[in-house]
Amino acid sequence: MIEVHLGDITRLQVDVIVNAANQHLQGGGGVDGAIHRAAGPRLLEACREIGGCPVGEVRATPAFSIPVKRVYHTVGPVWRGGNLGEPELLTGCYRQCLALARREGMASIAFPAISCGVYDYPPERAVEIAVEQVQAHLERDSQPQRVIFCCFDEAMAELYRQQLEAVVRR
Ligand code: APR
Repeated sequence: MIEVHLGDITRLQVDVIVNAANQHLQGGGGVDGAIHRAAGPRLLEACREIGGCPVGEVRATPAFSIPVKRVYHTVGPVWRGGNLGEPELLTGCYRQCLALARREGMASIAFPAISCGVYDYPPERAVEIAVEQVQAHLERDSQPQRVIFCCFDEAMAELYRQQLEAVVRR
């Protein structure tokens, strides 16, 4: 089941929330800042112990003061025109998060629009990859069975809805 939700990802009732982090895993602005604020300072300590995360990969931590089971920190690519492997790297983020959620037996996972803020990825292209990867995963695997695309603004939510409808029509 795929849902589109408008609002703050730290308020969702799910097993996993995904963080759009950076390679240093030391917090930042945007969704990363919101997650660190809501989780409290122990999240930064846990991230420091991990040490970092390459672009396109994922690292997991507890969620501390956020009432979900796990935070998956993934690092999306910075958009530099699209010919520097950005689509493959963004695909990696979604694939690795979904595969980890399956391995950890997580039933539900919420994604923010990875790379669509400071990292400047064109939202239409990012949404296409996000929807494609999630649908491919749901066709293959029974877990996680619930995937939420959590958007901070209505325009972004509308892009996901349109993409999901376009896929259904195909
Ligand atoms: N809940 C859900 N979505 C959010 C929230 C929130 N609380 N806050 C911001 N967003 C949305 C933004 O509107 C955007 O659509 O998340 C999307 C991703 O934006 P960014 O957070 O800027 O992430 P990204 O583009 O991947 O850039 C990552 O930003 O602060 C840093 O440390 C982070 O360096 C990294 C970079």
